[in-house]
Amino acid sequence: MSFTVAIDGPAAAGKGTISRAVAERFGLAHLDTGLLYRATGAKVLDGMKPLAAAEALRAEDLKRDDLRTGDVARAASQVAAIPEVRAALVTFQRAFAQRQGGAVLDGRDIGTVICPEAQVKLFVTASDNVRADRRYREMKGSGMDVTPEGVLADLRERDVRDSGRLAAPLKPAEDAVMLDTSQMSIEDAVAKAIEIISAARR
Ligand code: CDP
Ligand code: CDP
Repeated sequence: MSFTVAIDGPAAAGKGTISRAVAERFGLAHLDTGLLYRATGAKVLDGMKPLAAAEALRAEDLKRDDLRTGDVARAASQVAAIPEVRAALVTFQRAFAQRQGGAVLDGRDIGTVICPEAQVKLFVTASDNVRADRRYREMKGSGMDVTPEGVLADLRERDVRDSGRLAAPLKPAEDAVMLDTSQMSIEDAVAKAIEIISAARR
């Protein structure tokens, strides 16, 4: 049986940071599933239809330079509300989760839909303002033309769409451990996640 860690939560809660750190700590493969939706959204901005874009995804699409922009994030959240798009991406994600040696997947529906059998499920949150501030610093730091207000508005719009959609909405699995990182440093959040995963591996 493979060992799977599911990490879900709203935008900029710290899912990716925690996932990368625990993957390294426990020697697990890591898949940032948001990249699949971002790459699909980017192709739609290029002019493709959403389902065709999802079905045509290739590994190199996940390495595009523009995947972290606000426009692509919005397009990702729009295509992610389409059930057929989500269905087209399921097989790849489940196969990744079954890897020998185990895997960490982070996204919105990993614990609820993609890997309901995951041995560990974390739902990472932080207040709107903390998350927007983190994302603003991150985007500003990579040279993007953003304002704190704009980032907060975009993040809220995306969270409302992601939580309100019918297809695999953002919500904690019933057996998820909640991790509110509003008052936590990255080191504290990672240490807490490692503690939870270590307990499950025993
Ligand atoms: O993957 P997700 O969108 O949930 O968040 P992330 O990309 O891991 O984190 C967003 C930003 O917040 C990054 O710049 C992290 O370095 C930062 N962060 C933080 O300041 N404190 C934490 N406890 C977690 C993340
Ligand atoms: O890093 P951040 O949390 O801001 O976003 P992301 O994880 O890269 O995801 C971008 C968008 O893809 C989200 O706003 C969701 O609409 C969608 N997504 C999803 O629906 N299901 C997933 N498993 C992962 C992402």
